[in-house]
Amino acid sequence: MKEAANLKDHIYTKYTMLLLFLRGSKRFFTMSILASAVVAALDMVTPQVIRIVVDGCLSEQTETLPGVVRRFLDEAGGREFIISHLYLAALAILVVAALTAVFQYLNNYLNSVATERMMKTTRDTLYEHIERLPYAWHMENQTGDIIQRCTSDVTMVREFVSEQLVQVVHIAVLIAFSVVVMLSMSLTLSWVVFLSIPVIIGYSYFFYHRIGHMFQECDENEGVLSTIAQENLTGVRVVRAFGRESYERDRFRKQNNIYTDAWMKLCGLLSGFWAAGDLVMALQLMILVVAGAALCVQGKLTAGMLIAFISYNRRLIWPVRHLGRMISEMSKAGVSMDRLLYILNSKTEEVETNLPEESSCPDMSGDIVFRNVSFGYAEDERVLRDVSVTIKGGTTLGILGGTGSGKSTMMHLLNRLYELQDGEITISGVPVKDISLSWLRSHIGMVLQEPYLFSRTIEENIAITRDGTAAEAAGTMEEVRRAARVACIDESIERFSKGYQTVVGERGVTLSGGQKQRTAIARMLVQNTPIMVFDDSLSAVDTETDEKIRNALKQYMGHATVILISHRISTLMDADQIIVLERGRIAQQGTHRELIAQEGLYREIYEIQSPEGAEDTVDVGKEVPRYE
Ligand SMILES: Nc1ncnc2c1ncn2[C@@H]1O[C@H](COP(=O)(O)OP(=O)(O)OP(=O)(O)O)[C@@H](O)[C@H]1O
Ligand SMILES: [Mg+2]
Repeated sequence: MKEAANLKDHIYTKYTMLLLFLRGSKRFFTMSILASAVVAALDMVTPQVIRIVVDGCLSEQTETLPGVVRRFLDEAGGREFIISHLYLAALAILVVAALTAVFQYLNNYLNSVATERMMKTTRDTLYEHIERLPYAWHMENQTGDIIQRCTSDVTMVREFVSEQLVQVVHIAVLIAFSVVVMLSMSLTLSWVVFLSIPVIIGYSYFFYHRIGHMFQECDENEGVLSTIAQENLTGVRVVRAFGRESYERDRFRKQNNIYTDAWMKLCGLLSGFWAAGDLVMALQLMILVVAGAALCVQGKLTAGMLIAFISYNRRLIWPVRHLGRMISEMSKAGVSMDRLLYILNSKTEEVETNLPEESSCPDMSGDIVFRNVSFGYAEDERVLRDVSVTIKGGTTLGILGGTGSGKSTMMHLLNRLYELQDGEITISGVPVKDISLSWLRSHIGMVLQEPYLFSRTIEENIAITRDGTAAEAAGTMEEVRRAARVACIDESIERFSKGYQTVVGERGVTLSGGQKQRTAIARMLVQNTPIMVFDDSLSAVDTETDEKIRNALKQYMGHATVILISHRISTLMDADQIIVLERGRIAQQGTHRELIAQEGLYREIYEIQSPEGAEDTVDVGKEVPRYE
C-alpha cells in the first residue's frame, strides 16, 4: 500500500525541530544541567567556610553566623574549638572542591554524550530527509549551499544547545543561589553586586550585538577565500591550460588581505572590550570594598562577611560577563535554525511504508503511452507541448531533436523526476503517477546524458544497483563483465593495471568521456530492466563503436522496450519508430524509410550527416540545429 510518510507534510517550527534533534539525548542534557546546578550550589559553600573561620576565630563575631552553625560552635567550645580544629575548615574546603570536581566532570561528560547523540540524530535526520527530497529540489538548490547548511548551521545549533543553553541555565541558577545567600548577609552590599550585574550583562550584550556584523563579515570573507582556493584546485586544468596562475595568485592574495584586515579590526575591538570590561569590574570591586569597609566600621557587617561577599562577587562576575555574549550569539542560532528548517520543511517524495499493492506494480513490459503531454519547468514556459506517442512493448523508439527540444524532459517525466502537469503517461495502461515510485524507477534503466560515476572501483560503479552483499557474490562479477563486453568497455578496463578494481574519480584514473558513457551503459545493462532509456548515451563514442555497441545491445536486450535519444541518424535509423521533436512538439513521426521520404528536419539532418546519401557514412562533426 502506498502511504505518505509522516514526515512528508509535517511542518516544523524551531521548537519542534529542536525536539526532533534532541530525540535520545534529552535525558543526558537534563542530567548535565542538574550536575551544573549542583556545581553552582557547591560554589556557595567555600566562602561560608572562610566566613566562619574569620568571624569565629579571628574576630569572634559568631553572633552573625547562621543559627545552626552558631549553636554547634557554642556547644563545641566556641573560638577555642575552631582554633584547635582548624583542619575541619581545611577538610570542608577539600570536600567541597572534590565534590565540585566530581559534578563538574559529570556535567562535562554528560554534556558531551548528549551533544554527540544530538549531532548523530541531526545528521541522520537531515541526510535521510535530503535523500528523499525530489530531484527538482536538488536542481533548484546549490550543492554548496546544502552542504553549508548541514555543516556550519548544524554547528551553530550544536553550540546553541550544548553551550549557550546549558550555560545560561547554569548562570541563572548561580545568580539565584547568590541572591539568596548574599541577601541573608547584607542588603546594602547585595545591592552593590546586583545593580552591577545588569550593567555588565548589558555592556557585553550591546558590544557583541554591535560587532556581530563584523564576525559575519569575517565569515563571509573566509567563505570567499575558500571558494577561490577550491575553484582553483578543482579547476586546476583550466588555470594551467590558460596560463592564469599569476592572475589567480593575485586574486587569492587580495582576498587574503581583505580577510586578514577584517580579523585584525575585529581583534582590536575585542581587546578594547575586554580592557574596558576589566575597568568596569575594578570599579565595581572598589565600590564593594569601600562600602563593605564602611559597613564593617559601623558594625553592620563582619570581616568574614565582607571577605565572603568579595569571594561570591568574584565567582559571579565572569559567568555574568559571558552571559551578555551568549545572549547576543543566540540570535545567530535563530538564523541557522531557519536555514535548517528550510530543508526539513521541504516536501519529500512519497515514501512507501508497506509493500506496494499489485495495482501499483504493473507489468512493465507493456506499451508506454504519452497522451497529450505538456510540461514546463517554469510556469509560463512550455518545454513540451501536446506530445502523444505510443511505444509498443518490446519495440524501440528513436527520438531526434535539437538541443533544448525537450528530449531529456520526456524521460524526466517518464520516471517521475518531475511530476506531470498536463496529459498522461501510462505503462501497460497504468498511469505513472499511480505506479509505486521504487517499482517504476527500478524497472526503467536510464543511461543519463551526463553519466555520473562514483569515486569507487569500476566494478562497484557497474554493479551499483546490486546491494553490497550481492555484489560480492560470484555471479555478479560475471554479469558485470558481460555487460561491459556489450558496452564495448571490457577491453579498455582490462588495459588498466588494476582492471575492474581501478578506482574512478579524483585520485583514481580519470576515464575519458566515451569510457564514462560506456561504463554507464554497462551499469544500466546489469540492472536488466524491461524498459531501457539511452539519453544521448553514445555521443562521445566514435561511429564505429556506436554501431558495435548497438549490434551487441540488440542481442542482449531481448524483449526490452527501448527509447534511444540521439543527434545521430545512424544511431536511430534501425528503431521501429522515430519521432522528431521541435521546440517541444512532435514535428514528424515514422520509420527511417518513411521519414527520409518526407520533407522535414529528419531528411535535412540525414543529408547533412551523410552527404553522399549512403546510409552508413555519417559525418559526426555536424550537429542538429539548436532551438534555444
Ligand atoms: N531542471 C531544469 N530546470 C529548468 N529548466 C530546465 C531543466 N532541465 C531542462 N530545462 C530546460 O528545458 C528545455 C528542454 O531541456 P531538455 O533537457 O529536455 O532538452 P534536450 O532536448 O534533452 O536537449 P539536449 O539535446 O541538449 O540534451 C531547455 O530549454 C532547458 O533549458
Ligand atoms: Mg537532453
